[in-house]
Amino acid sequence: MAVINQKGGVGKTTLTMNLAAGLARRMKTLVIDLDPQGTSHAWSGLAAQPLSMQVEHVPQGFRAQLHLTDRGADTAVLLDCPPTLDGETIAAVLRAVDRVLIPVLPSPLDLWSSLRLAEWVEAAQQENPRLEARLLINQLEPRSALSGALEGALREFAIPTLHTAVRRRAIYRSTAMEGITVYEAGRNGAAARAEINAIIDEVLT
Ligand SMILES: Nc1ncnc2c1ncn2[C@@H]1O[C@H](COP(=O)(O)OP(=O)(O)O)[C@@H](O)[C@H]1O
Ligand SMILES: [Mg+2]
Repeated sequence: MAVINQKGGVGKTTLTMNLAAGLARRMKTLVIDLDPQGTSHAWSGLAAQPLSMQVEHVPQGFRAQLHLTDRGADTAVLLDCPPTLDGETIAAVLRAVDRVLIPVLPSPLDLWSSLRLAEWVEAAQQENPRLEARLLINQLEPRSALSGALEGALREFAIPTLHTAVRRRAIYRSTAMEGITVYEAGRNGAAARAEINAIIDEVLT
């Protein structure tokens, strides 16, 4: 699965790391950090205890064949993509994965700036018919529902939206600072774990 959006700060790294930690409870899990800045790789190096998933940094020259085919069907691989991927690498990523998750912030303006991704995904689906894409709303304000304007903007995408949204929660920030995920956050992480688990269930079915 690739987590992709050419906008920075939408939560790609946060969601990749937390989804990977949740998936690691179910199967062997590997994160490939394609970001030259190596954010998820650095994150995994901060923790006092090793995380349950492996994190590899592949800052340049991502070759889908090389990096993915020898992993074995029992390993979940998540690609944390930087905002700066060139068209060729995006195409290689989208050819190699079964799922693409596009985190978006709950604002129509942010959504519109991601519309081009839908075209890339559609082009990739011509060559990779098993590719399934989903939008994932991140940083939804606590207790607020989607606005009508946002729902209208979501309908402009050819890509469906996951039912579960990720709320804006301080625990996502504080765990990142410690190099852990919400799965290592005890009771304070319970609500966040529940939404990440629900997303994993949606993505896997
Ligand atoms: N659901 C959330 N609730 C609170 N803070 C979040 C949430 N998702 C991401 N963040 C914070 O937003 C910032 C950007 O997230 P990040 O994962 O680095 O985005 P990207 O990888 O897309 O650039 C980080 O400071 C992160 O801790
Ligand atoms: Mg990132």
